[in-house]
Amino acid sequence: MTIDIESKLKETRVFEPSPEFSKKAHIKSMAEYEAIWKRSVENPEEFWGEIASELHWFEQPKKVLVWDEPFAQWFVGGKTNITYNCLDRHLTTARKNKAALIWEGEPGDQRIFTYQQLHREVCKFANGLKSLGVKMGDRVCLYMPMIPELAIAMLGCARIGAPHSIVFGGFSAEALKDRINDAGAKIVVCSDESWRRGKQIPLKANTDEALKGCPTIEKNIVVKRTGGKVPWNDKRDIWWHDLVKDQSSVCEATSVDSTHPLFILYTSGSTGKPKGVQHSTGGYMVGTYYTNKIVFDLKEEDTYWCTADIGWVTGHSYIVYGPLANGATSVMYEGAPNQPHDGRFWEIIEKYKVNIFYTAPTAIRAFMRWGEQHPQKFDLSSLRLLGSVGEPINPEAWIWYHTFIGHERCPIVDTWWQTETGMIMISPMPGATPTKPGSCTRPVPGVAAEIVNEAGEPVPLGSGGRLVITKPWPAMLQTLYKDDQRYRDAYWSQVPHKYYAGDSARTDELGYFWIMGRLDDVLNVSGHRLGTMEIESVIVSHEKVAEAAVVGMKDDLTGEAVCAFVTLKRGIEPSDAIIKELKAHVDKEIGALARPKKLIFTDALPKTRSGKIMRRLLKSIANGEVTSGDTSTLEDHGVLKNLSDLASTEDDAT
Ligand code: WT7
Repeated sequence: MTIDIESKLKETRVFEPSPEFSKKAHIKSMAEYEAIWKRSVENPEEFWGEIASELHWFEQPKKVLVWDEPFAQWFVGGKTNITYNCLDRHLTTARKNKAALIWEGEPGDQRIFTYQQLHREVCKFANGLKSLGVKMGDRVCLYMPMIPELAIAMLGCARIGAPHSIVFGGFSAEALKDRINDAGAKIVVCSDESWRRGKQIPLKANTDEALKGCPTIEKNIVVKRTGGKVPWNDKRDIWWHDLVKDQSSVCEATSVDSTHPLFILYTSGSTGKPKGVQHSTGGYMVGTYYTNKIVFDLKEEDTYWCTADIGWVTGHSYIVYGPLANGATSVMYEGAPNQPHDGRFWEIIEKYKVNIFYTAPTAIRAFMRWGEQHPQKFDLSSLRLLGSVGEPINPEAWIWYHTFIGHERCPIVDTWWQTETGMIMISPMPGATPTKPGSCTRPVPGVAAEIVNEAGEPVPLGSGGRLVITKPWPAMLQTLYKDDQRYRDAYWSQVPHKYYAGDSARTDELGYFWIMGRLDDVLNVSGHRLGTMEIESVIVSHEKVAEAAVVGMKDDLTGEAVCAFVTLKRGIEPSDAIIKELKAHVDKEIGALARPKKLIFTDALPKTRSGKIMRRLLKSIANGEVTSGDTSTLEDHGVLKNLSDLASTEDDAT
């Protein structure tokens, strides 16, 4: 397949960082950035070795990188513990009584942990895990809301070398079960319930449902969050507060190899089965530490807020590990941005005098809809830097963010990266890079990116192609959990000798990168990755469905939305009731985030002669585009006409 994505975006505005910002920034000019970047890619081992030496190692690495394509080992021979760097390292400094974590609950409660306090809680929980028989290498699954115990649990696992696998609290019992089983987790931690827009979400009940099919789980640790009534199994369940109550607050950080797996995080790919992205300890630590510092120009005095959920990689890297490794103050908010009012985020910024704010384009588009009168009610003058992540930011949203949140004073860093990359890969340096709305600009120091054609050759400037990374980087995934072959196939087989994870992009005359979207069967809904195959197989598993095809359709708010073409079994008629049933089915099997926004019933799906569903065609139909593409291999042309007619008459089914 050739890449026929042509960039329709021609944004010409350029925004220079202010001289006041640049003067104080870690990287002060383009010349400085260019010099650092050049050295970093010419001598990556020297470059990353120096950064690693800013952190604590129980034993110094003997070799910065051992590269056996496609497997990288970073800081080989080095022994460390990421929690030593996130906590202990600060306790002998003035940071010991500095706020590490400022947490705000959705109902308005607040908890603040200094570095010492956080250290104590992490040690107690780590000792609690040990008392349950958790050992180095055992997997622990966390299915929790955005409460401090989630950060404490992650760090507690890392403290004893037990890789964590966090499952976003919006996922269903079914999805939780699959992830627990794939990782073979021994322990699952959840809460009684979580708060979401004032409603209680039954995480414990979901966990119970999942655990009916999880033979490897020995214990379920439960945090009391809402105090709601929950089902209980005396043999298996244990309250968090009972577990930690009598534990010692001393738990030495286990010395682990740099290459010891820190965590697994499941993400969608182009098959039905989520991929268990596995990250290392040392490389991930160095990569997130460094990028958090330079991309967000993080300073001792900053209060930094990333609004992601820790259930996604953004929260792992830039709420917990990156900021704490830097000794920063990280804000964590439990709830929805419009609870109890549309200005909740701005209220939090005013309340804690947040200096650096990192959110997603889909959130910014929601803020735009709600109107600028909400941010205007609050004092946002503490802000000095804004960030964006998850999908390409459309220039309108960029300008709104710049105007109404940044008051035309704050640089915006549009950061491109992925679950697999672990750290930010392409982003402006806020004190150096002139920004263009919609472009994530240039690779960060230490990262070499390129745009290539199918043969792996660089394309001419301005042409679209596959975005690849040409050199290993420290926070790169180690492999897919227990599936080296799938790791090779997914990332290292399409473009020879280069890392490719599915995005198309182009560069402009300044060498800036413009991400154009995914080229594989992966959707980006509100900055969250969903596999089309995954949703299809769920829909097809419904007793009334014969066949289904899922594609993305453009959506003003969520970027993309799920559109499902469904063929029902013979004798079953489309109806509102079936639409409801199918949506509920997807909610149950994956979670509401994968729920189709639009369902189109059809007697047949367009297929090639070899029987492959023509997804590209369906995508144009879902998006109301002309279907004049190459349809010469289409099996039955009548199908296409019927479908187009349908799509144009179908009302949005939500
Ligand atoms: C995919 C990765 C990394 C945290 C959030 C998502 C898209 C991410 C940007 C950006 C354009 C972006 C890409 C990427 N994406 N950031 N700044 N500009 N696209 O993590 O779920 O692993 O998804 O999100 O398509 O491949 P993820």
